[in-house]
Amino acid sequence: MAIELKRVEEFALITLNRPEALNALSFALIRELARAFDEVAASNARALLVTGAGAKAFCAGADIKELSGRPLADQKRGAELGQATFAKLDRLPMPSVAIINGYAFGGGLELALACTFRLATRNAKMAFPEIKLGLVPGYGGTQRLPRVVGEARALEMIMTGRTVDAEEAARLGLVNRLLDGDPVAAGVAFAREFSGYSLPVLGFAREAVTRALDTPLTEGLRIEADLSTLAFQTGDAAEGMSAFMEKRKARFKDC
Ligand code: CAA
Repeated sequence: MAIELKRVEEFALITLNRPEALNALSFALIRELARAFDEVAASNARALLVTGAGAKAFCAGADIKELSGRPLADQKRGAELGQATFAKLDRLPMPSVAIINGYAFGGGLELALACTFRLATRNAKMAFPEIKLGLVPGYGGTQRLPRVVGEARALEMIMTGRTVDAEEAARLGLVNRLLDGDPVAAGVAFAREFSGYSLPVLGFAREAVTRALDTPLTEGLRIEADLSTLAFQTGDAAEGMSAFMEKRKARFKDC
């Protein structure tokens, strides 16, 4: 198997498992990822963590050996498969965390960008090197990168192919935090910062913020009013506010 899906306490953990190819995204691996995202979506995991096998790479991008010389129609279908697979990740009912433990290049960075959060080890390196291959990112990078770092920085990364180290990525907001020690243990500790909260309410919060990036302000404020009203109607909101007044810890039930 090119990926491994397992449970780490209350979390699902996907490990890309082709370390000999720096975990490059073969089409077989992408299909396995799509199946794994469906399985995670139907599970009771509180979050999904995604990382790469070996000490060197999270994922070095699309498998260039497979891409080279393909007919145009296959290339289009390949981009659509990659985009649809990463859209499944983006739309999971629970938050997702990319643990970038080395190179995240091309499709690897696109995979990380489709996660809710990105954490990086101090040796991590991120780039969109497609331009050096005469290519353009095809698994969502041209759309998600500017939403995360802004247009000017996205244009620079995509049009120069420049490699960004972990510290610069943190400064740009491309990664949320830098990790020390065991990356998966650090990822689990990060996920614990939100995993005790109500899953549906976390989903409303995520949707409100995501919609801010593609919606005019007046429309976005209407969406926020609707989503905050939906949150208010949950049993978890009643529990959270009662717990505050009774000076105890809330016990959320995801409803
Ligand atoms: N596809 C296929 N194989 C890859 C690969 C990739 N993207 N990246 C690395 N590998 C393979 C190498 O061919 C090599 O295999 P062999 O030992 O059989 O030759 C093995 O992984 C180890 O790689 P290197 O020897 O190159 O390792 P390095 O430490 O010297 O360099 C690297 C690391 C800088 C990441 C370099 O491997 C590299 O530049 N890789 C390509 C990165 C890239 O261009 N990614 C974008 C792909 S296109 C894309 O992703 C489009 C999209 O939007 C979906």
